[in-house]
Parts: sequence; structure tokens; C-alpha cells
Amino acid sequence: MRMRVNWIILVALVFTIASTSALAQQPIVIKFSHVVASDAPKGKAAEYFKRLVEERTKGAVKVEVYHNSVLFKDGEEVEALQLGSVQMLAPTPGKFGPMGVREFEVLDFPFLFDNIDEEHKVTQAPIGKRMLKMLESKGIVGLAFWDNGFKEMTSNKPIRRPEDFKGQKIRIQSSKVIDAQMRALGAIPQVMGFGEVYQALQTGVVDGQENPTSNVFQSKLYEVQKYLTMSDHGYHGYAVIANKKFWDGLPPNVRATLEGAMKETTDYFNRIAKQENDDALEGIRRAGRTEIVTLSADERRAWKRMLMKVHAEMGEKVGKDLLKSIYDETGFDPNKL
Ligand code: LMR
Repeated sequence: MRMRVNWIILVALVFTIASTSALAQQPIVIKFSHVVASDAPKGKAAEYFKRLVEERTKGAVKVEVYHNSVLFKDGEEVEALQLGSVQMLAPTPGKFGPMGVREFEVLDFPFLFDNIDEEHKVTQAPIGKRMLKMLESKGIVGLAFWDNGFKEMTSNKPIRRPEDFKGQKIRIQSSKVIDAQMRALGAIPQVMGFGEVYQALQTGVVDGQENPTSNVFQSKLYEVQKYLTMSDHGYHGYAVIANKKFWDGLPPNVRATLEGAMKETTDYFNRIAKQENDDALEGIRRAGRTEIVTLSADERRAWKRMLMKVHAEMGEKVGKDLLKSIYDETGFDPNKL
């Protein structure tokens, strides 16, 4: 009888050791979801981060990248992250408004930056760090900003002057500032997930949209848009975020490795973005289906004059101190156009 009991204890012990060591071998899995194409800068950066993390943790961490809204789409991805159904995202700042972080919409202010270096002066500096910190009360860790240059306008009629927007149904992200921007131009804004934009343009549900050329090219929006106006009228970039409970729960050495990989991926993104957008513009030009409209200095000034009312109207909503700190950092003067 005693022999039998010893055997049972021995088998149970072996089983426990085997299953514990098997458990110890299970990788930590990070689901990284986003809404654009795999070859857009954001898609390339997510894959770059995956490679760095899996190499450096020797497989202890596995990053699963989900491009093109296949896992979660606009309007659901941030909540999915807060619930822990996905561990990392990189939404545009305007998409944080609906969850109550209205300050992020300051980056949607039209003509806020004159060039990508001015973007970096804000997002890659103390102001950007302060903004990322604001997410923690929402159960989110803000890891970085990836600066993807500027939004251009695409449409099915040529847009040169503000009056050309009159009556146009323009798809926008879920941002009150962008809503105000389109209404100031006389357009009719329609909030829509990025994954639905191609079909909405193709069927005429909307007439136009705004995005950097890399998204216009990689998501083939040029196929269903006759005109691309190189307006550079607004910042386009991403706040890279993680579920806070997941991130804080990582073994400290693993978290440190991921932070190092995120720093290098941010440098990579901010290094390639301009070239990616320039190459995308060339690709759209070569496709020959979309007329490229460039604005004269006067035409661009007319947009700016029209859109400074958004700065006046929406300053309160995002926080006047935050807006002023950005003006001070870049030397922006809404009265000097
Ligand atoms: C959009 O919704 O138009 C953009 O946010 C797409 C993206 O993530 O770049």
C-alpha cells in the first residue's frame, strides 16, 4: 500500500515539475493592433519593434502585429486595450478625445507646425512626455510619439481655396478639433473608421478625406480620389500606447528591454517617415489616376486665415496653457500668417 502511495506522489511530482517548466517556457504575448496598411510607416514600425523585441528577449516575448484593422478597428481599439484584449496600439492623437483625453486634440490644430522638425520639438520633448503621462489615469501607458509628417486633402473635385470645400462631405477621425476645422472650411464632416474610408469614397458616401500621402498610397485611396491637394494643413502622427496593468506587470528586465526597443523603433519611424511620404507621393503620381494640386502662397494663406478661428474656438477645449506651451516651443503666432 505504502509503495502505491509513493508511486502516486512521484508521478504527481514529475507532472507538476513538467507542467511548471512548460508554463515557464510560455512566451509573454503582445498583441499590437493598428488600422493602416502593413507597408505604411506605422505598419513597418510595428514589425521593426516586433523584430527587436523577439531577438532581444530570445523569444521570451512574442509580438503579434495585426495590420489593417483586422483585430480591432477605429472606435473599438482603445477600449479593447483598456480591457486588456490587446496590449499595444498606435492611434492618432485625435482618437483619444472620445475617452476624455481632449488635450491630445491639440495636435489636430490646423497649421500648428510648419515642418517635421517643429513636430519633433513638441512630441519628442517635455511637452510630449507630459501629454503621454495624461493617459495613465485611463489605464494606459503612453510609450512614444511617432511623427508621420502632414495630412493632405484628397477629393473628387479640385480643392485649392477654402470655398472649394463648400458642401463637400469629408471623412474625419473622431476629433472635435478636426470637426471644427472642416466646418470652418464649409465642409460637412463625417466621422468614420479608417478601414471604411476606401469603400465610402468609392461609393460616394463621402467626397474626400485627409491623410499623409503614405496612407493615401498604401491604402490605395488614390484609386478612388481624382485630386490630391498638397496642403500640409495638419500634423499626422501616433501615440504608441500599452495597457498599463500589462506593462507594469512585466518582469523589470523584460520591461527595460521593451523600452529600449521602443526608443529605437521611434528613432526608426521618425527617420523614415519623410522619405516614405515622399516615395508615396511619387507612387501616386506614377499611378496617373490622381491629379496633384499644389497651393500658391496666397492660396495656402487663405486656408490659414480661415482656420485660425479653430485655434480661437478650440483653445479652451484642449487647454489654453498646453496650446500656449506649443506656440512658445515653436514660435507659432496665430496673428502672423
Ligand atoms: C485615420 O484614421 O485616418 C488615420 O488615423 C489612419 C492612421 O492611423 O494613420
